[in-house]
Amino acid sequence: MSWVARGSHQSNANANGNANCNGNGNGNGKFSNANRNGKTNSSPWRQKIAQQRKSLPIASVEKRLIEEVRKNDILIIVGETGSGKTTQIPQFLFNAGFCNNGKVVGITQPRRVAAVTVAKRVADECGVELGQKVGYSVRFDDSTSNSTRIKYMTDGLLLREALLDPYLSKYSVIIVDEAHERTVHTDVLMGLLKNVQLARSESINDGQNLNNGNKNANGFMLLDKDNGQNSSFDRKERREKSSPLKLIIMSASLDARTFSEYFGGAKAVHIQGRQFPVDIFYTRYPETDYVDAALITIFQVHLEETHGDILVFLTGQEEIESVERLIKERLTKLPQGSQNLQVVPIYAALPPEQQMRAFAPAPSGFRKVILATNIAETSITIPGIKYVIDPGLVKARSYDPGKGMESLIVVPTSKSQALQRSGRAGREGPGKCFRLYPENEFEKLEDSTMPEIKRCNLSNVILQLKALGVDDILGFDFIEKPSRTAIIKSLEQLFLLGALTDECQLSDPVGRQMARLPLDPDYAKALILASQFNCLEEMLITVAMLSVESIFYTPRDKYEEARTATKCFASPEGDHITLINVYRAATDFLEKRTVEMNKAKSEKVLRKWCNENFINSRSLRHARDIHRQIQGHVQQMGLKLASCGDDMLQFRRCLVASFFLNAAMKQADGTYRAYASGQVVQIHPSSVLFRKKPDCIIFNELIQTNNKYVRNLTRVDSLWLTELAPQFYAMQN
Ligand code: CDP
Ligand code: MG
Repeated sequence: MSWVARGSHQSNANANGNANCNGNGNGNGKFSNANRNGKTNSSPWRQKIAQQRKSLPIASVEKRLIEEVRKNDILIIVGETGSGKTTQIPQFLFNAGFCNNGKVVGITQPRRVAAVTVAKRVADECGVELGQKVGYSVRFDDSTSNSTRIKYMTDGLLLREALLDPYLSKYSVIIVDEAHERTVHTDVLMGLLKNVQLARSESINDGQNLNNGNKNANGFMLLDKDNGQNSSFDRKERREKSSPLKLIIMSASLDARTFSEYFGGAKAVHIQGRQFPVDIFYTRYPETDYVDAALITIFQVHLEETHGDILVFLTGQEEIESVERLIKERLTKLPQGSQNLQVVPIYAALPPEQQMRAFAPAPSGFRKVILATNIAETSITIPGIKYVIDPGLVKARSYDPGKGMESLIVVPTSKSQALQRSGRAGREGPGKCFRLYPENEFEKLEDSTMPEIKRCNLSNVILQLKALGVDDILGFDFIEKPSRTAIIKSLEQLFLLGALTDECQLSDPVGRQMARLPLDPDYAKALILASQFNCLEEMLITVAMLSVESIFYTPRDKYEEARTATKCFASPEGDHITLINVYRAATDFLEKRTVEMNKAKSEKVLRKWCNENFINSRSLRHARDIHRQIQGHVQQMGLKLASCGDDMLQFRRCLVASFFLNAAMKQADGTYRAYASGQVVQIHPSSVLFRKKPDCIIFNELIQTNNKYVRNLTRVDSLWLTELAPQFYAMQN
């Protein structure tokens, strides 16, 4: 491929601000010196980690940062990616005594991968076992204990914690990290934390305030509404639990003003980063196939450029897996001496130990190529990157409030994302970034990404806010208000699902139960309904399987073989039952073979089974984990765990009762019209119903490429719609 080179980006070349690292330089003083894997405190490995920590730009400003935290209840910290914010600041706070008396420093991340990998790194730096002093908690995966003092978690998870503990009383400091990402959870969390902080300081100034159950500016009810009866903790306990809460908002982008203004003129500090020049290259012409262009560029760099690892930004798990296979295939065609390229994927659904592979150095003599989603943009910093390949695309949520439809679409990145991506190449020395589009395309990009809250279905967060006692959603102090239409549409959906009453209050028990489940409202409702339809076992499997990406994998070169292999799972009723068949076949297989096997062995056996059956073993494993977790939740809630056996009619009827907003009818030309939105959609070729085309379907996913496709669907009887969802269809008729 031929390239057009453009001037290099260099924000602040070698700001070498790491001179006098202060007393806590080795940083692990207060942590126990667990002797793990022979990694003793004096081992070369430990020394190397201590050395790395000392050389981070942030190391020299530890004392000043702590002073600022002491002086300011809300502090905004802006620092370039890789300067050490996420890994170091929580340790500084720990060392400064913010975890005394059993208090916890909590750090939220927009992405689970970041929470998991960073926690692991920090546990290593501290020389402790993960899950002890340093832990993480993300949806469906908790690695914390009573002794956890530094806790990494997703922003969504902290929102859920607030349901159980409205004061977030165990935290002395909460750090909202990666705030520039502006995920919907981060935005809502900031509004919530503002209130928690206020309530906690009020409770210290005036113990009585706490007991009045009065609402503050946001209409946010911090306490039970019944003046103490049934309260989650009594007065004395409340007073003990209340102590000031420090808030830190961290961001990689340079615009601190929005945050500062939102938090009433909060102080912002900037941390000098270290950024080497990065040469930017553009393609001469637009690329028709960016995956192919990425492959060509990977090999061009590998064969022609000096040593240094490659980071490639792709849009999702499926794409990453297919590029991984293609690289491996092409590698076998290279001469022996050029095959020294190690491929490492990293994306959200990857099991944690495999995520960590991205951080490990390549074997000696090898070059590493990391295939990442946009998690590698700012959330995680992988050492050793010198070359970045950026097709300029990202998978993003998009929502049409008029139609009430949310979908995932691949869209161009913003300018600021493109700059962040290229910056990854200049962390340790000068680097190169290959943008797989012509330079004039760059100029056309949006400056920054629109906050997610403006482009997603809000029913999930509204349900949670309602459960937290926020009655007036339209009046909530959002950092950026979602449109009125979007809010009203989501309220309407929650009402149709039975989560809200006529007065727009959370219904009891359905709304409360739905808010407790860590799932989208329609999935939560499906589980609650399934216990009445006697098919909770089937619905649990369905929800778990729908929560992961791509259960089947169909390599291009083994297309026919894969089709034949997966035929035995196919159900004539549709994809939901097909997914149940896969899950059950895997479970049966394991049960027969692994009675006396240990975990590692049984996983190996399952992997082999998956390979033979063209099932994605990573996805299946993830689904099994999720299944275990939600089963725990529904059991705790006392839902009746029953199976409908062979009577799948019950299960299909339950799908209609739950996902009635996603029903579509066949039209004369073979396309479908979705009832609720009026959109014309087609059945995705991967569906088992692709050729059958039943008259009426229920679907779970809408994908937009050139056409609108629906995926994960089941054949249903259109008469069931009015029978099982009269609240919507009786009205429509
Ligand atoms: O948060 P920020 O982007 O400022 O930096 P960080 O995530 O704290 O990363 C600081 C340094 O730790 C980076 O230079 C990484 O090379 C290193 N790190 C690592 O080696 N392994 C990890 N799992 C995480 C960070
Ligand atoms: Mg960070």
